[in-house]
Amino acid sequence: MGQSQTSKLIASEIQKLKKEKNAVVLAHYYEEGDIQDVADFVGDSYYLAQMGQKTTADIILLAGVVFMAESVKILNPKKTVIVPSLEAGCSLVDSAPADKYLAWRKKFPRGIAVTYINSSAEVKAISDVIITSSNAEKIVNSIPKDRPILFGPDENLGRYLSQKLGRQFELWPGTCEVHMLFNSKKLGELIQKNPDARVIAHPECTPDVLQYAQVIGSTSRLLEEVKNHPAKKFIVATEPGIFHQMKKARPDVEIIQAPQADGSCGCNNCPYMKQNTLEKVLRALQTVQPEITMTEQLRAKAQIPLDRMMAIANDQPVDWPSEFRP
Ligand code: 13P
Ligand code: SF4
Repeated sequence: MGQSQTSKLIASEIQKLKKEKNAVVLAHYYEEGDIQDVADFVGDSYYLAQMGQKTTADIILLAGVVFMAESVKILNPKKTVIVPSLEAGCSLVDSAPADKYLAWRKKFPRGIAVTYINSSAEVKAISDVIITSSNAEKIVNSIPKDRPILFGPDENLGRYLSQKLGRQFELWPGTCEVHMLFNSKKLGELIQKNPDARVIAHPECTPDVLQYAQVIGSTSRLLEEVKNHPAKKFIVATEPGIFHQMKKARPDVEIIQAPQADGSCGCNNCPYMKQNTLEKVLRALQTVQPEITMTEQLRAKAQIPLDRMMAIANDQPVDWPSEFRP
């Protein structure tokens, strides 16, 4: 039996189990195409958090990385939240151990701790507000101008926002191991060979790569650009899982992966996102495992900054704590 026939059988079994168990599947754009195709909702990390919060399903399977599933559990605690693999971490989460983050945070008691959603539940619990790359500008702009901003764990996103919004940030030194691989010298050469290409990049890329981008934004923003811009060629500096939706939306355009330095794999696959497979999605739905769990004390603390993110994104007023009290 060919691979595609096997995948079709697994996909139809997944659809059957979703109905039987009242489960919903949420998938991030960096997942393999066959996983995106069995999902009820596919999107960026903000959209997945919104859909996870709203759903009335009993079981939420999040095909993405674990911090995304944790965010859904924090926002919608009565639901059973499962993942295809608990090995699906994130280098940004790993770059910010909670004890070290707390020590850093304590140095700036009047600062507002703005934390990227790519962080552990423990780090969220000591933060004031969470952002994703699709809502970051609105959220930072809502912070009173007299309050210092601590930003982590992604220093590239933080530097980009700080420059764009004209606010000074204290930056935590973390990076995304996937977006760090793009090489600006080779990108410059590729652009010279393709002067008609539109260059689009995720803000987790380094500043020397971002300087070439005509559009810098979240995965959903980059997809929207490919959908709506009349260009026939796009050079894309982000994880290639998103090419699945880009090619579906614009079969008429050429999508070119931004280059890496000589000697590297050249693929830019996120090793964490790619822990998930269609087989593991099926297994998770069959066994309702592995499940995301955390203590209620941790969950409730981590919900405060996530609720602030949702409120600001929805134009609702929020209060800021006058200082940090651990
Ligand atoms: P988005 O929120 O833009 O989907 O980004 C998530 C991510 O992990 C990027 O590496
Ligand atoms: Fe984390 Fe980077 Fe993978 Fe996104 S692409 S999940 S930031 S390691």
